[in-house]
Amino acid sequence: MSDIKPLLQAMWENYLALNPDARRIHDLFAELNDGVVVNDHIALRTFALEPVRLEAIARPFLEAGYLPGEDYEFKAKKLRARHFYHPDDTLPKVFISELKVDELSERAQGIIKGLAEQIDPAALAQDSFSYSGRHWSLDYGSYQELLQESEYAAWMAALGYRPNHFTVSINHLKSHETLQSVNDTLQQAGFVLNSSGGLIKGTPEIGLEQSSTMANKAEVEFSDQTAEIPTCFYEFALRHPVADGQLYQGFVAASADKIFESTNVK
Ligand code: NI
Repeated sequence: MSDIKPLLQAMWENYLALNPDARRIHDLFAELNDGVVVNDHIALRTFALEPVRLEAIARPFLEAGYLPGEDYEFKAKKLRARHFYHPDDTLPKVFISELKVDELSERAQGIIKGLAEQIDPAALAQDSFSYSGRHWSLDYGSYQELLQESEYAAWMAALGYRPNHFTVSINHLKSHETLQSVNDTLQQAGFVLNSSGGLIKGTPEIGLEQSSTMANKAEVEFSDQTAEIPTCFYEFALRHPVADGQLYQGFVAASADKIFESTNVK
């Protein structure tokens, strides 16, 4: 069985490079917790198109002993997702979503299929695919067209394959017991949180409370110009015991639906 840790570390470094806020936030919590900040999950995005369906993105994780968890549907955003977890519960869960491209307009489908066709299958066979960025040329006009239909489509087209977010496990923090106190620390330090559906998504009763920063912005190169667009964000998760007395280990679709909006342009 392959060791997943080098891949997780490479993904983390790739993520920090695009998201300087995440480094500052990680350091802030590390300082208060003897240097230890545990990651609850990593989120990855893809298109529901062969050969890059979410099952293909999951391959290196499955090869390292990860197991498929629950499936999730996000009708309005035209997404499907699945989470994967490792029997070694010190390893983060991996939440992979895919955009149901065939539910978009003919025009958007045409743009996205044109992008996916440019992916070299040899690149997909590498474990590094999950942080390999964009495999296609994209003009700014096409980005704008996708943006009008789907924030997710535009994000994927502009940024390609890379972690969309990492997630601080509040259960493993000594410094904070509640999500409210984490949010207060973040806001006092000047970070902007996603307020869609309220700052706190979920409740103790359903087993999971989550919040997130709004994504950092970065200059991204298109084939005809550069533009500043939202990149990646940091999430905070507090898991609660459910009926069997164990901490809930799944995800809550209604909350994830709002977390997706952390990369919205407006
Ligand atoms: Ni998440």
